[in-house]
Amino acid sequence: MQRIAIVDPNEATRESLRGFLLSVDFVWLEAECARYEYFFDVIHASKDSMPDLAIVHLDSDKQRALQMIGEISVKYPKLQILTISKDHQALLLSLQRGAKYFLTDPVVLEDLLSALQRSVGESASNNGDSGIGSQGSGGFARQVTQSSVIAILGSRGGVGTTSLAVNLAATLATEPENKERVALIDLDLAMGDADIAIEVDGMDNISIADLARNIERLDMNFLKRALVKHAPTGLSILRHPLEIQDMAVIHESHVERIVNLLKISYSHLILDLSKSLLPTDLMGLRLADTILLVAQLELSSLRNVVRLMHLLNNTQENLGDRVKVIVNRVGSEAVEEGISLKKAEEVIGKAFYWQIPNDSKAVMAARVAGQPLVKANPKCRAQQSIYGLAQSLSGKPMAVGTDVKKSPWSLFGKR
Ligand SMILES: Nc1ncnc2c1ncn2[C@@H]1O[C@H](COP(=O)(O)OP(=O)(O)OP(=O)(O)O)[C@@H](O)[C@H]1O
Ligand SMILES: [Mg+2]
Repeated sequence: MQRIAIVDPNEATRESLRGFLLSVDFVWLEAECARYEYFFDVIHASKDSMPDLAIVHLDSDKQRALQMIGEISVKYPKLQILTISKDHQALLLSLQRGAKYFLTDPVVLEDLLSALQRSVGESASNNGDSGIGSQGSGGFARQVTQSSVIAILGSRGGVGTTSLAVNLAATLATEPENKERVALIDLDLAMGDADIAIEVDGMDNISIADLARNIERLDMNFLKRALVKHAPTGLSILRHPLEIQDMAVIHESHVERIVNLLKISYSHLILDLSKSLLPTDLMGLRLADTILLVAQLELSSLRNVVRLMHLLNNTQENLGDRVKVIVNRVGSEAVEEGISLKKAEEVIGKAFYWQIPNDSKAVMAARVAGQPLVKANPKCRAQQSIYGLAQSLSGKPMAVGTDVKKSPWSLFGKR
């Protein structure tokens, strides 16, 4: 946890900075001060729990603020100082006096977050730890972890994209180390139904369209209010727009901003994409660390896997490298067209990363109940397989002591 002290005589900018800092999980607001001349005493008084970072807004009295920075940086060389100002000259002077980071006013949220993250890394190396899981004030530890973005893309309608997105997200959310740190974003803007597969309370009824409309004024509190919580798993969900016509207000740059901001607070972001390959979907793919491409053992799905791989392999970022193909509903006579797994892999020119068995009764019952499998039927075959997938994606070894022959993973797991 990064301890922070702020000084800013201007109430409005101080309030907004405070509001922002309170919403960031890995910082702890240790002290707040409205007068430059008292700040030295504030730092001095907190010597048992010295802040790691002082944020100084210069613009109320640049002369006095710069003088104070000079004094503090001499007396407390380990204290990092971040300055904020509209005046570039003042920012340069603050660097000469010992400030380490600066931001121009008005502050862009992403820039502040990245400065905070750099400062955490710096404090960690000063303290000789990794910066991960360090204990904060009040003995309450939060982690600055890398966030993993997983995009789920279907190879045609109805292959199980949303089922996988919802159940994978809920499974990850119930892992103790991810507690309250997994979010599902429904990017199937027109026809999304993640909120049917997993029922959540309406509350504020803020959707991704409201975030897009307020994108310039977006702060972490508003962003977090837009995410509704599924209490049984702790999964947060950002819903598709309520009205279909509202999808027109959502642009790819909005998706980029929302995902990048959410990465600060969440360990996993699961994106349920549409099949229309809209600019918002393509942005979701670019932002993803892992793309799970969902297929079934039938011709149109497999042909689309080949076409999608061709598209993704020819992107500037070579997105094809991030793709893992998941074959869903394995063993379903209704779905499969007599195509073997081996034959399908030959057709797509790639091994399946994971197989999910057909489990109609359990999947349908959970959907009707509006609950993810991990709560509705944790022992069913589909959930066992999705659990294995979640473990594998998190780089965890398979459960120790499982009887391999009887394990559902030997039948339906990774190959
Ligand atoms: N492993 C499974 N076993 C049995 N049924 C499944 C499985 N996965 C998904 N289904 C069923 O397939 C149907 C379509 O699933 P889902 O809505 O997840 O697909 P989708 O790709 O998101 O569809 P859309 O194109 O509408 O977005 C649902 O009725 C769901 O219950
Ligand atoms: Mg869907």
